[in-house]
Amino acid sequence: MVVSLVAGALWAMLPAYVPNNAAVLAGGGHPIDGGRTVDGRRLLGDGKTWRGTAVGTVAGVALAMALNAVRTGAAGALGADLPVFSLRAALGLALGAMLGDIGASFLKRRLGRERGAAVPGLDQLDFVVGALLLAAVLAPTWTLATFSPARLAVIALATPLLHVTTNAGAYLLGLKSEPW
Ligand code: CTP
Ligand code: MG
Repeated sequence: MVVSLVAGALWAMLPAYVPNNAAVLAGGGHPIDGGRTVDGRRLLGDGKTWRGTAVGTVAGVALAMALNAVRTGAAGALGADLPVFSLRAALGLALGAMLGDIGASFLKRRLGRERGAAVPGLDQLDFVVGALLLAAVLAPTWTLATFSPARLAVIALATPLLHVTTNAGAYLLGLKSEPW
């Protein structure tokens, strides 16, 4: 029961979790804002690049399709009810996660925080909100059926923990310049 709930919730969010990590690995190249500033502050900053965003989105969609391929076996092994991703749902989760993170950087720059500054709460949940919103736009029926209140509660609790641990791990491995 609990295993099924947690497994289903995390499975449904995996295509939104992976894009940010893929973007860290792929980062570099041209910033999306092209260096533009508003009131002396960068629109987004050098941490949001075209390449990171594209690679992150493709990685999230590809992961969703890979999860579909192994779903039956995983569901049996875990005794869990796991969702199937439509292409629209996968794109909504992956691109939405990237857009949520970009939106957070926009807000951070407006608040005067430099690239890499930590804003607890915003850093951990920006991509979840973006992913759920774009999935709801691109695949409304799937999103409503998949994200039950119980699964959303698991996601709200587990995401900050996962985010903090993966980013600390990426920092320790030298892949990221800050541990958040
Ligand atoms: N990255 C990217 N494109 C994105 C998101 C992330 O290229 N759309 C890469 C960048 O190299 C970035 C790294 O992943 O530096 C870490 O991402 P993140 O922590 O989101 O960016 P920060 O550099 O911390 O910048 P910000 O303060 O704007 O979040
Ligand atoms: Mg950051």
